[in-house]
Amino acid sequence: MEQFTYIQESPASMTESERQYFFMEQAKEKRLRKEEEVGHPLTFCVTTFGCQMNARDSEKLEGILEQIGYQKTEKEEEADFVIYNTCTVRENANQRVYGRLGYLGSIKKKKPHMMIALCGCMMQEPHVVEKLKKSYRFVNLIFGTHNIFKFGELLCRAMDSDRMIIDIWKDTTQIVENLPVDRKYSFKSGVNIMFGCNNFCSYCIVPYVRGRERSRNPEDILNEIRQLVQDGVVEVMLLGQNVNSYGKNLEHPITFAQLLTQIEEIEGLKRIRFMTSHPKDLSDELIQVMASSKKICNHLHLPLQSGSSRILKEMNRRYTKENYLDLVERIRNAVPDISLTTDIIVGFPGETEEDFQETLDVVRKVGYDSAFTFIYSKRTGTPAAAMDNQIPEDVVKDRFDRLLTLVQDISGKMSGRWEGTTQEVLVEGVNEQDPHLVSGRMTNNVLVHFPGDASMIGQFQKVHLDECKGFYYMGTPV
Ligand code: SAH
Ligand code: SF4
Ligand code: F3S
Repeated sequence: MEQFTYIQESPASMTESERQYFFMEQAKEKRLRKEEEVGHPLTFCVTTFGCQMNARDSEKLEGILEQIGYQKTEKEEEADFVIYNTCTVRENANQRVYGRLGYLGSIKKKKPHMMIALCGCMMQEPHVVEKLKKSYRFVNLIFGTHNIFKFGELLCRAMDSDRMIIDIWKDTTQIVENLPVDRKYSFKSGVNIMFGCNNFCSYCIVPYVRGRERSRNPEDILNEIRQLVQDGVVEVMLLGQNVNSYGKNLEHPITFAQLLTQIEEIEGLKRIRFMTSHPKDLSDELIQVMASSKKICNHLHLPLQSGSSRILKEMNRRYTKENYLDLVERIRNAVPDISLTTDIIVGFPGETEEDFQETLDVVRKVGYDSAFTFIYSKRTGTPAAAMDNQIPEDVVKDRFDRLLTLVQDISGKMSGRWEGTTQEVLVEGVNEQDPHLVSGRMTNNVLVHFPGDASMIGQFQKVHLDECKGFYYMGTPV
C-alpha cells in the first residue's frame, strides 16, 4: 500500500508484546524527527464513542501513545494526531462519526502534518471502510477491534506513509497481555475479563464486530488487578459483553462466580463492579457470591430488552418475561436492597402495542433505579434487519416517550429511597459546576455531591444523604 518504509523488522524470537514495544521505540524516533520538522511537541486526542469496552480500549491506545512520547490534549482541533475509537451499535453513533470526520478534514487542510486514525467497532464493517476509502481519503490509519494491540506497529507504518493504511482482521483468538495503559482515573479502573460475544441477539451487531467470545486466563486478570491495587486503584469494573458466561471455554474452565471469589481476596481492593450480565446465564452460584461478598457493589445491570416473551424469542434472548421476573425475585431475596438498572429496546420488528404493554409491566414490577431506553436501530447484516415487519417511526416514537415517562417516574421514586441515610461514597472529583463540592458514587452507583475539596479524590467518605434530586443526592460529610 505505502511506497516504502524505514521500518526495521522485529527479531523472530520476540513475544507479541515485546514486538509491540520494539515498534513503539521506532515510532518514538519518528516522532522526534517530526517534532523537529514542525517545531513543537506532538499532541494527541483520543475520542471514544460507545461502551465501557471501548473506553478501556482507548486507555490502551493512550498508553501506547504516551509510551511513544506524544502529549495528551483534550482539544481535538489543536491535536497533531486525532483518533476516533468508534461504535456502531446504533446508526446514530455512525452518523456522529461521519459528521465530526468531515469537520476534522477541514482542519487537516490547514494543518497537513496532522494525522487521523479510526478504529473500533465501526471499522469492522466492510461498507464503512469502503465509504472511508472513497470519501475520506485524508484519514491516515484505519484498524479494527481485533488488532488494537498492533497500534504501535501500525502507527509506525502510517508515520512513514502518505497513503491510507488499512489493517482490519475478521476475527482473532489472540489475547495480547502486558501492553501500556493510561488510566483515566487513578482510583478506579475497568478490567477486561473477556472479549467478544457468542449470543447473536437478533438485533445486535456486536458479535459481528467484536468476534467470538474469548476469556482471559484468571491468573492474568488477578495479576492485573493486584498491580492496579498497588498503583492505588480501589474499585474495579470487570468488563465483558456477557460476564456470566466467563471462563466456560478456558482450558481449565472456571465460573464467573469463582473468579469473583478469587478477586474478592485481593487485599486493598475495596469495590468490585461488573458489566454486562445476561439474564439467561446468571447463576444461583453468582447470586450467592453477591449476597455474601463484602466487596461486590450493591448494583446489578440486568438488560431486559423487552418484557414480551414473544419478542424476546424473536430477539434470541433465550429467556421469557417470567424467567426474568423470577430471576429478579431471587436476586432481591438474596440481596434485598440491591439497585437494579437495565437496557430496553423499543420498536423491535413486529412489536405490537400488547408486546409494548408487557415491557411497561416489567418496568413497573421490577422498579429499576434507572433504565437506558433505546429506539430499535436496524443494523445491516443482523437477522432482525431482514425481518419484514419493521415498525413505523411515529409509532416507535410514541412508545418511546411513554416508556421514558414511566421509567423516569419509577426511578425517581426508587433512587429516593436512601434519603436520610448515611452511606459510604468514593470521591471521584471536584464538582464541575461548583468547586466547593465534590462528587462521588455510592456502592449502588448513584452520584452524591457534598462539600469537599480535591484532596478527597479517590478516598471513601461517609456522607449523610440530605436530599434526593432525582438521579443524584446532595449530602453532608459526617
Ligand atoms: N452485551 C450487552 C449489551 C451491549 S450493547 C447485553 O447483552 O446486554 C448495549 C445495549 O444497546 C443493549 O443492551 C441494547 O439495549 C442496545 N442495543 C443493541 N443493539 C441495538 C439496536 N440494534 N438498536 C437499539 N438498541 C440496541
Ligand atoms: Fe449484543 Fe446480545 Fe451479545 Fe449483548 S449479549 S453484545 S446484546 S449479542
Ligand atoms: Fe458500541 Fe462496540 Fe461497545 S458497537 S456498544 S463500542 S462493543
